Amino acid sequence: MKMYFIAVLFLGILTATTQSCKKGDDGAPGTNGTNGTNGTNGTNGTDGYGAVTAADQAAYDAADGTIGARLYDHPLNEINYLPTAVMSDKSHSNFFRCKSCHGWDLRGRNGVLINKGPSTTYPMAADVDLYSWARKHSIREVFDAVKNEGGREKSTNQSYTSNMPYWGEILTDSQIWQLVKFLKETSHNTDDFYDLTTSGAYPNGTKTFSNIGKGGNAANGLTVYNAKCKSCHGADGKSIDIYCENLFMGKMFRTNAHEVQHKAVWGMPIDREHVVDGCLSGDYAMPQQTLTDQEIRDMMVAGQDTIQFPN
Ligand code: HEC
Ligand code: HEC
Repeated sequence: MKMYFIAVLFLGILTATTQSCKKGDDGAPGTNGTNGTNGTNGTNGTDGYGAVTAADQAAYDAADGTIGARLYDHPLNEINYLPTAVMSDKSHSNFFRCKSCHGWDLRGRNGVLINKGPSTTYPMAADVDLYSWARKHSIREVFDAVKNEGGREKSTNQSYTSNMPYWGEILTDSQIWQLVKFLKETSHNTDDFYDLTTSGAYPNGTKTFSNIGKGGNAANGLTVYNAKCKSCHGADGKSIDIYCENLFMGKMFRTNAHEVQHKAVWGMPIDREHVVDGCLSGDYAMPQQTLTDQEIRDMMVAGQDTIQFPN
């Protein structure tokens, strides 16, 4: 027994010595880590504000964050509520789109909206990072904030200010829960898809995208694109002229990565305004897709190829 112990010890020292004399070759570079998981819900306030009831939790659990994503894009299109006041000048619908005030990246004026100043047809960007705000607050607090009781009135009394609408007047509670689910869980951390560098201050700041697709695989991206997008958007990405503005998929991949990370997977509601103005023929929505975050990154990298996906 003792001998055995000594022998094992000796062997151990021998191995250790051998290893320390000879430096092995460098290992291959590691692969990218997986994305972090979403934060946990904030704790409830002690004063009862933001306290979550069992009914709240049940409504939240039943909600579908991918519908929330489409509501976030264009609530009025998604619920097919387009009053004449809005339709008479379609650009006014931006005063009702979450993304117009909060950005595709949810970061408001400190994110992609940093250079998008207000105009008569476009609201001022909100000064809040909704992505982290929603993850830090309880589902009840987020619900109340989205509902925004007493906020700007709906379109019958139009003023088109940059104040947030009173969504409780336009959306049902269950639609608001879909939005809460989107904000708290479904929405992407856009840092997982590209890097955004900003300088200066809203609305005169500048922004630069880099690292679009974050090390994704172009060959796999093309395979995914061909399997899931080509039938509608075409092999070169030019079959659908988005907004009838000669805006095709290649350009979207290269300049609108913030929008692609959203629409590639959650699609978009019927573009009712463009159906009315004849830009699109028929009720033509983009359906949701089944895609992993990695597949989106892969497609983003494939989409940088201007030969495959011309402007
Ligand atoms: C016309 C502009 C506008 C639209 C459209 C809009 N918001 Fe807002 N929202 C704001 C402003 C402004 C604030 C206040 C931000 C601040 O505290 O500075 C705000 C605040 C919020 C807050 C609370 C954040 C906080 O810090 O208290 C949530 C949640 C929110 N919005 C969600 C939404 C959702 C979801 C939609 C779409 C259904 C939406 N907003 C549409 C302008 C808008
Ligand atoms: C069933 C047909 C269909 C499929 C499949 C499809 N799309 Fe779309 N896509 C559309 C339609 C329709 C539009 C809306 C054009 C509009 O309303 O202006 C659109 C719009 C878009 C937009 C831009 C929206 C905008 O407003 O700027 C992006 C980005 C997009 N699709 C990406 C993709 C990607 C990536 C895939 C594959 C994962 C895909 N689509 C699959 C039909 C489709």
